[in-house]
Amino acid sequence: MSVANHAMTDRAKVAVLISGRGSNMTALVDAAKAPDCPYEVVLVLSNRPDAQGLALAAAAGVPTLGIDHRPFGTDREAHERALDAALRAAGAEYVALAGYMRVLTPWLVEAWAGRMINIHPSLLPKYPGLDTHRRAIEAGDAEAGCTVHLVTAGVDEGPILDQSRVPVLKGDTPEALAARVLEAEHDLYPAALARLVAG
Ligand code: GAR
Repeated sequence: MSVANHAMTDRAKVAVLISGRGSNMTALVDAAKAPDCPYEVVLVLSNRPDAQGLALAAAAGVPTLGIDHRPFGTDREAHERALDAALRAAGAEYVALAGYMRVLTPWLVEAWAGRMINIHPSLLPKYPGLDTHRRAIEAGDAEAGCTVHLVTAGVDEGPILDQSRVPVLKGDTPEALAARVLEAEHDLYPAALARLVAG
């Protein structure tokens, strides 16, 4: 086996959970093309079978799966047991949430404790939850940004692994600020994931 092949087989296996567009997922998949990237993406999984990101992942040659949450009704844990089975069947060692827009139950969080991370579009602990960019603008913040953190039971509360800052510019709309933050997300997320799996 060549050195390059050996390095490839040693890479940490990561699954990415998405709900929509999948631009952060794409950034993770693109970064994994580098021969020295310490992780590979073994599955892109969505709670929305029609998520745009699933088509992008499939086009990039990554295995994809949609497990619709709707047939499970209010039984969130039953949906997550199906997700968890798919993650384990794919051999995932780490899970990266990338615009996965469902709150997780403590059961799934516990099952992946220390091995599940999330990217959030604010400088946590500021602005957990939704509508982060509008809230930053309305607060008159000079800076906004994004955070990669370990997932714990509290929403957007886990230990912070890394953050990236961008300026809030005069006259910014939430959309303009979101676009600036998103560019920072695409750099931050692959780097933070690589550091986590490399220990
Ligand atoms: C990203 O901005 C991500 O930080 C945010 O959703 C967007 C997903 O975009 N996540 C959250 O708000 C989670 N609380 P993407 O699908 O293009 O990566």
